Amino acid sequence: MDPIYRVGNDVHVLPSSLPIPGIGTLVVNAYVILARAPVLVDTGLAMDGEEFEHALRSIMDPADIRWIWLTHDDADHTGNLERVMSLAPAARLLTHGLGALRMSTWWPVPLDRVSALQPGDRIDVGDRYLRGVRPPLFDNPMTTGLLDERTGAMYTVDTFGAILPSVPESCDDVSEADLVDGIAGWAAFDSPWTQLVDHDRFRAAANEVARLQPTAIFSSHLPSASGHMARQLVEVIASVPARPPFVPPDHAAFASIFAALGAAAPTPLA
Ligand SMILES: [Fe+2]
Ligand SMILES: [Fe+2]
Repeated sequence: MDPIYRVGNDVHVLPSSLPIPGIGTLVVNAYVILARAPVLVDTGLAMDGEEFEHALRSIMDPADIRWIWLTHDDADHTGNLERVMSLAPAARLLTHGLGALRMSTWWPVPLDRVSALQPGDRIDVGDRYLRGVRPPLFDNPMTTGLLDERTGAMYTVDTFGAILPSVPESCDDVSEADLVDGIAGWAAFDSPWTQLVDHDRFRAAANEVARLQPTAIFSSHLPSASGHMARQLVEVIASVPARPPFVPPDHAAFASIFAALGAAAPTPLA
């Protein structure tokens, strides 16, 4: 994992970065919101295990977590969920109900601790409400982001993710070209259905983010962005349907990525 950092008074970021040789680095962020009833947003990568727990303990006693907001049941968000639920026995799991049921096919999710979440739901966490929102891009139908109604920070899940040359703490330290290429490229890869949509309807959905005037944007796969960038980020997303589709690396390209990671070469197709 990368060092944790704090944004503003009450948000801690737990980042883990994944190098993709020859392409860039993808960050995977979990967040702690130090509300009166503390909230963990997503649970990092399973391979970080003890390191994730250590990072969490450096912020707070995990036993004090009251809510685990799981944005969706993809592996890069659920990695330490089982671990955290046992460390935080008083915590309830807020997630899409069907996501909870799907996860229960691979581990015994304590369904009596689940609160099924829908976009529009408002959760009282003591000193603020968190509102469920559906971000404009998603790679999983369970996706539920959130808006912190007290601070105006928006957690946009996979939307605004980017593969970048390096991953600083703030988007202010990323060049505009890297940001635009990274976000547009990630969106084309992670939400390939953008090739199929009506451009105007999609733009209207993307504009919803700007309409909410977030004071900060916390994506699961981007350094933190302050609210003044919202319009610019929305414009990048809105342009994605008109951009070329994502083309995955071919076998030879994957072989060199694997080699750069020190892994065995993938088996060639016959
Ligand atoms: Fe995802
Ligand atoms: Fe993700």
